[in-house]
Amino acid sequence: MARPRLYITRRLPESVMAAARARYDLVREPDDVPPSRESLVDHFRQAEAAISLLTDVIDDTLLSASPRLKILANYAVGYNNVDLAAAARRNVVVTNTPDVLTDATADLTWALILSVARRVAEGDAYMRSGSWTGWSPTQMLGSEVSGTVLGIVGLGRIGRAVARRATGFGMHVRYVAHSRHPDVDQGGWEPRTLQQLLREADFLSLHVPLTPETHHLIGAAELASMKSTAFLVNTSRGAVVDEAALVVALRERRIAGAALDVFEQEPLVHPGLRDLRQVVLLPHLGSATLNTRVRMGMICLENIDAVFAGRPAPNRVG
Ligand code: GLV
Ligand code: GLV
Repeated sequence: MARPRLYITRRLPESVMAAARARYDLVREPDDVPPSRESLVDHFRQAEAAISLLTDVIDDTLLSASPRLKILANYAVGYNNVDLAAAARRNVVVTNTPDVLTDATADLTWALILSVARRVAEGDAYMRSGSWTGWSPTQMLGSEVSGTVLGIVGLGRIGRAVARRATGFGMHVRYVAHSRHPDVDQGGWEPRTLQQLLREADFLSLHVPLTPETHHLIGAAELASMKSTAFLVNTSRGAVVDEAALVVALRERRIAGAALDVFEQEPLVHPGLRDLRQVVLLPHLGSATLNTRVRMGMICLENIDAVFAGRPAPNRVG
């Protein structure tokens, strides 16, 4: 029996590619650059299974031109790039990669918290410039992290993993979430409304999926409610923050700084952000460890295997 035809939109780590080639017929060997829309449409048309990235727009038009497609495994925990309703109408199973990237993303969130508070990226750039003349009691003073208030918006897997790490820093965790979770009671974490959290947090960290409800969740009014000494940290999706409003708030010193791993129009960075020294910018690295990226690929393959074996896909969404 012919093996199912799999289209992978971008090159994945080699061990994942090897596992994919061993089990499926690849529609083509993927490149390490984003496919054009034309090539996406052309290759989806031939595929019975596909692995897509968060940078691929999987919309109604694409799905309507993919008559053989049975499963779309999105290589990400977030799936705002996929039109789930259109997939459901065409009986295409959509899956994501939860759990395996929780720790990597929580770790990177902490890298950002520490970096923006203690001016790590700025200090590194300064050292590279060769201008350092030696230790000074008043040089590059940052903000305290230990003992402060960590505000978590969205207490899903990643939000909880970020909150758990706060214990080591003696921080007070406050959160906004749709529902209570059993972990919460153990940690002494306290629920708040978003308004309360904005006023209390020294670090406000965003861990919600991007949906119509969370689009621009943090805009001018929310930024104005934050402490002038507070930092905004975003490792979720760029459009959860109104970037134009953020640039204004930072310029006017309404908040102390921001650390961003995600952007509204990736790979574009909102004009003005790069000029601000109180901003740390990373190129969407949340899940970017080799171990995690391999595990994400293996989960995509396991979901595809399940569908072709007639079993329910373990990580089905929607
Ligand atoms: C990355 O941003 C993901 O959703 O996995
Ligand atoms: C994703 O894994 C989340 O629930 O935050």
